[in-house]
Amino acid sequence: MTFDLLITNAAQLVTVASGGARVKTGADMRELGVIEDGAVGVKDGRIAFVGSADEVDFEDAERTINAIGKTVLPGFVDAHTHLVFAGARENEFARRIAGATYAEIAAAGGGIATTVRATREARPVDLVESALHRLDSCLGFGATTVEIKSGYGLDLESEIMLLEVIRELQALHVVEIAPTFLGAHTIPPEYRERRTEYVDLVVDRMLPEVTSRALAESCDVFVEKTAFTIDEGRRILAAAKARGLAVRIHADQITANGGAELAAELGALSADHLDHASDAALALLRASGAVAVLLPGVSLFLGEPMPDARRFIDAGLPVAVATDMNPGSCMSENLQLMMSLAAMQMRMTMEETITAVTLNAAAALGRSDRIGSIETGKQADLLVFDTPNYARILYHFGVNHLNAIVKKGAVVFEKHYANA
Ligand code: NIG
Ligand code: FE
Repeated sequence: MTFDLLITNAAQLVTVASGGARVKTGADMRELGVIEDGAVGVKDGRIAFVGSADEVDFEDAERTINAIGKTVLPGFVDAHTHLVFAGARENEFARRIAGATYAEIAAAGGGIATTVRATREARPVDLVESALHRLDSCLGFGATTVEIKSGYGLDLESEIMLLEVIRELQALHVVEIAPTFLGAHTIPPEYRERRTEYVDLVVDRMLPEVTSRALAESCDVFVEKTAFTIDEGRRILAAAKARGLAVRIHADQITANGGAELAAELGALSADHLDHASDAALALLRASGAVAVLLPGVSLFLGEPMPDARRFIDAGLPVAVATDMNPGSCMSENLQLMMSLAAMQMRMTMEETITAVTLNAAAALGRSDRIGSIETGKQADLLVFDTPNYARILYHFGVNHLNAIVKKGAVVFEKHYANA
């Protein structure tokens, strides 16, 4: 018995192999390393064999999944979510449908502040419960690793509570979680007239607590007219970096405001949104090595133009695509839908979108040495799709094509049991 698990006879085994490269850029984003009639063998939670089905036998494994007529991909990585929150905002959704803008609702005391009010009052156990359902949903659409940000607490106690909730989620859920501290999501209403004091609180009180208790891997700031200035962002993120956290920025989402340039300056792991980033900013970002995380679900949900991913890819940037799952600007965990949107609306090829939710998304979390592709030695995070080729996943859009999900070598979901 060679393998604990063998997935074989796959019509297409899409490896996204990078040969050790951290990210794919340019034309490499379209190189998926597809093996027709492929097989992948798993031992001790890791990938032990990748190749042709001819080279392996069913008897080689304790358990086999016959993927005949199906497509196998690396587990997806959702590199940007805010999925821990209380309450919902259907009424704001209704107001937007009737014509109000996201910014108008925020200016009238709604938006992020609505969710902050509900979240501060919630019991941690209820936040865990609702977030577990959302994580189930993420996993159900193929995300075996998910980044989760705090940011709906916005006071010391509530931000720490949210990060503790995220830690509890990791103990309870099979999805691997990358926790991010987003204490600088917006200025909370009680600090509106004394914003420097809020930045002091983030830097002097929240960050030390977050890092001394190892509650987050990275720190994010929403740099925007309605949130934090460049100087405030720089102060918070430099302090976070000095404490060993990786840096990411909600940059240039609503306006071009220098967020992307700041991400480059600070050596950020990712710069996210970037809808309005200038060509000069993209050149700086490229030189810095940051991953550009694009979020088509936000544009769809808010009725805004989609970012043009071609600009980013042609500028040589590693592009990732994520959901941004949150109650205000994208209430969806469906990464398969985001891939279809990216292809249909952001001028990405289907191959590029697959790289964008696997290897490059893993790189946005600093994990592409371990996850994001099907290569020997990597963690066995694998997806089996009920489609004869990878293109069908995007083309037949808005539905869930998953047949089986493997996390760290364990089959955590299987739609049909006939092959078990
Ligand atoms: O990523 N940009 C800032 N934050 C979220 C929206 C959060 C909310 O509206 O609750 C975003 O779009
Ligand atoms: Fe976000």
